[in-house]
This record gives sequence, structure tokens and C-alpha cells, in this order.
Amino acid sequence: MTDNTPLIELRNINLAFGNNVIFTEMSLCVYPGECLSLLGESGMGKSLCLKMMVGLQEPDAGEVLVNGRNITDLNSDELVDLRHHISYVFQEDALFDSMTVLENVGYYLIEHTRLSDEEIRERCRVALESVGLHARNLDLMPANLSGGMRKRVGLARSIVFEPQTVLFDDPTRGLDPISITRIGTLLHKRHEDKSKTSVLATHDLKTALSVSNRLAVLHSRKFPYQGTLAALRELKDPEIDPFLYDPDEKLQDERKRARARSPRFQ
Ligand SMILES: Nc1ncnc2c1ncn2[C@@H]1O[C@H](COP(=O)(O)OP(=O)(O)O)[C@@H](O)[C@H]1O
Ligand SMILES: [Mg+2]
Repeated sequence: MTDNTPLIELRNINLAFGNNVIFTEMSLCVYPGECLSLLGESGMGKSLCLKMMVGLQEPDAGEVLVNGRNITDLNSDELVDLRHHISYVFQEDALFDSMTVLENVGYYLIEHTRLSDEEIRERCRVALESVGLHARNLDLMPANLSGGMRKRVGLARSIVFEPQTVLFDDPTRGLDPISITRIGTLLHKRHEDKSKTSVLATHDLKTALSVSNRLAVLHSRKFPYQGTLAALRELKDPEIDPFLYDPDEKLQDERKRARARSPRFQ
């Protein structure tokens, strides 16, 4: 499913804002066809990682390579082109407030394709439904939507043109449990196509553990732990164990063990 040439590589990155040192000598690879989750406490730099991958944040030192090319060597046209292949889904919804939901979701299709209005509306309807929103929302303004709906419209906008690579920044944050499950399904469906690549920055362990082939845990300003869930659990490292077990799953295991110990079940 994956080959050994990274699609995106962050190499020896240093980044600080004044005294706030975020990364020191941090390296991370994203391989084609994988779903990689970046885990770590809030405020440690997961969003910044994704932003560096699309040139929205420059590192102080180190290199960002996309398909082997240094992102700082790209001219503005090439950067625009890069963002058509690698879509970054903002943590906040970042919708255009003066445009309807249809215009927001269909933005890329309207600007960059020759699809008819009907085709664009149909593709936007399908994208909205994949995040659990009804087509009747297409003609509403973002101001008339709830926070969770806005977030899902932002997601629909980023997947409607089916980019090869999507960087999802905390895609389930603030969503209700049904919507969270739906986003999980959307990610699973996306990866039925083995050529699609996703990176998830999240602290939603349930979704991360169920959809990712690989995890990278941010610790001490770098990603010292990168690998499959099985390989990382094998380390039995108390520093990262809290990121590797879904709390619900752990609770159920504990209940099962408690029941097995109970004399009533002997
Ligand atoms: N443009 C910026 N200027 C100053 N500090 C920033 C900027 N962007 C992010 N930070 C800081 O960098 C740290 C990591 O941010 P972020 O990547 O958003 O964390 P995470 O996504 O893991 O919660 C935070 O302490 C944040 O305040
Ligand atoms: Mg973040």
C-alpha cells in the first residue's frame, strides 16, 4: 500500500515563536497511500506541522519536501497547484461568510473546472451528504449554520474535488458523536482508493485508531514515536501509551477483566 518514497517530508525542522520553542530537529515523512495520524497534546504543534506541509508556515530551519521538491523553491503558481493536490482542511471552518454554502463548497469547482452549474450543485450535494448535511443547506449563508455544521461545510469544501492528499486538522473537534462516526466513515471510504493519502492532526483517539495505518506521536518537540499501532503498543512506553488506547476500549477491557475475576462468573 505504501512505497518508500515520501510524498511529503519534513526534515530537521526547527521552529520557535520567541521563547516558545515548538520543534527542534523534527523529522516526519508522509508516504503515498497511507492515512497517518499525528497525535499529541494540544498546543504542541500538530496544526503547525500540517501548515508547513502546504507552505502556510515556514520553518526557522530545516526543509519541507513535497514529491522531493523543496517547498521554498516553488513559485506562487506552483504553490497554488500544490494546494490543488494537497488540500488543507482548517481546524476552524474558515468559510467565506459572504458566500452561500453552495458557493463555499463549490469554490474550487467554480474557479478551476468547466463543470455546469447543475453538475457543481450535484457534486456539492453529494459532498454535503457525506458529512451528514442535507442539500437544503446549500442555499443558506454560513451565518445561519451552527458551529458543527460550519465545520462540516469546511470539510465538504475540501473533499468535493477529491484531492489526492488531504491534511485534516482536527476534523472531529466540536462535533457530536453521530457526526464523528460519519467523518470516520468518510475517511474509511476515502482510503478504499489506495492512491489517496490523508494526514490527520487530532486528539480524537477513537477516529485516529480506527482509520490510520500509521501514527506519529509528538513528544519533546519532535516525533520520536512513528509506526503502526501494533508496533507502538509493543514499546509499552508510558509516555505514549495514553495516546494508543481508546479510553472506551480500555474501559470495556477493564470491565471484562473485572467480570472474569468476579466469583459470580467462576
Ligand atoms: N503564528 C503564530 N504565532 C505565535 N505562536 C503561534 C503561532 N501559531 C502557533 N503558535 C503557537 O504554537 C503552538 C502550537 O500550535 P498548534 O500547532 O496550533 O498546536 P496543536 O495543533 O498541536 O494544538 C501553540 O503554543 C501556539 O500558540
Ligand atoms: Mg491544532
